[in-house]
Amino acid sequence: MPHAAFDWSRSIAGSGPGRVVNRRFRHHFRGFPLAHAPIAGPFTFSATSLTVDRFGYGAMQLAGPQVWGPPQDVDAAIAVLREAVALGIDHIDTSDFYGPHVTNQLIRRALHPYPEKKLVLVTKIGFVRGADKSWNLARSKNELVSAVHDNLRHLGLDALDIVNLRVGGPHGVDDTPIDEALDTMRALQRDGLVRHVGLSSASAAQVTAAIEAVDLVCVQNLYNLAHREDDALIDRLAARGIAYVPFFPLGGFSPLQSEALDAAARALDATKMQVALAWLLQRAPNILLIPGTSSVAHLRDNLAAAQLALPAEILARLDAIAGRASDAPAPR
Ligand SMILES: NC(=O)c1ccc[n+]([C@@H]2O[C@H](COP(=O)([O-])OP(=O)(O)OC[C@H]3O[C@@H](n4cnc5c(N)ncnc54)[C@H](OP(=O)(O)O)[C@@H]3O)[C@@H](O)[C@H]2O)c1
Repeated sequence: MPHAAFDWSRSIAGSGPGRVVNRRFRHHFRGFPLAHAPIAGPFTFSATSLTVDRFGYGAMQLAGPQVWGPPQDVDAAIAVLREAVALGIDHIDTSDFYGPHVTNQLIRRALHPYPEKKLVLVTKIGFVRGADKSWNLARSKNELVSAVHDNLRHLGLDALDIVNLRVGGPHGVDDTPIDEALDTMRALQRDGLVRHVGLSSASAAQVTAAIEAVDLVCVQNLYNLAHREDDALIDRLAARGIAYVPFFPLGGFSPLQSEALDAAARALDATKMQVALAWLLQRAPNILLIPGTSSVAHLRDNLAAAQLALPAEILARLDAIAGRASDAPAPR
């Protein structure tokens, strides 16, 4: 079901194939009021009263190099967070293991007290960082409970809106059973510390286990123009109204490189980051964006992707960058 959500009405007739439709964006950035203007349109997490704009922000890049320690420029990091909210972003992805603690502390410093019901902070648990900056699985009951308390303390909250249980190892997705960890997530919900549960770095089988165990609201996995292993999973989640939140939407630590992407950006008079993000928004209605940046200028640039209409011939060329991993219907 690729590009099912694409709103062709955004295209402006006569603007040429794929010309960036950017009037609203330009208008915004000439100093008009920005607060809470819709960016990419609303998405309500299934079985919740939480609605966010489909264009969010990922805070991982705010920590120091290798996601360790404070950023070189703390004021710049705080400016990015405040600008994100001023531009209407109401969904920020974070974790206490970024830094560790650093991104949560920055979010609290920049944004607390949070605008009530207007900012959804999504965090994740399941790793701890070693003193050597390593990423180590931490999925025992005690480790998960302690991670939730760390997130609450560093974010300055009494309860967390959405917590992603990160289940893959440091090298990616595996099929380890996660029943015990899901039991712990349910207990954390019963205790009122976690409102809703998501999964991260999860296999199709782990997603099935989570759907059976909890009201799963989102899955956060690696996915972008060049990495499309989750195509079938995205369609399966879309059918249930469960959000799919791609991490590394711009390629993460290895920026997306593709001749077809460069050509599309040239044709559209856009940046390749904008094209990559617009492609994700158009890929499926349940995709929420959390691109990361440590730069206000990049943040503003990236938001323009929400106004970028990709015409059919360019979509086809972008789709061909990585073939769909599987067109077979996935098990539900
Ligand atoms: N669940 C998980 O296991 C997991 C794993 C990784 C990440 N995440 C989450 O996903 C979010 C997104 O992933 P990510 O931030 O790692 O990767 P990303 O969004 O794919 O890419 C971020 C990189 O792109 C650069 N960038 C962004 N906008 C740019 C622009 N307009 N021009 C040039 N460069 C630009 C950033 O550099 P600048 O800072 O210079 O802009 C940064 O190096 C993270 O912030 C985190 O919240 C989750």
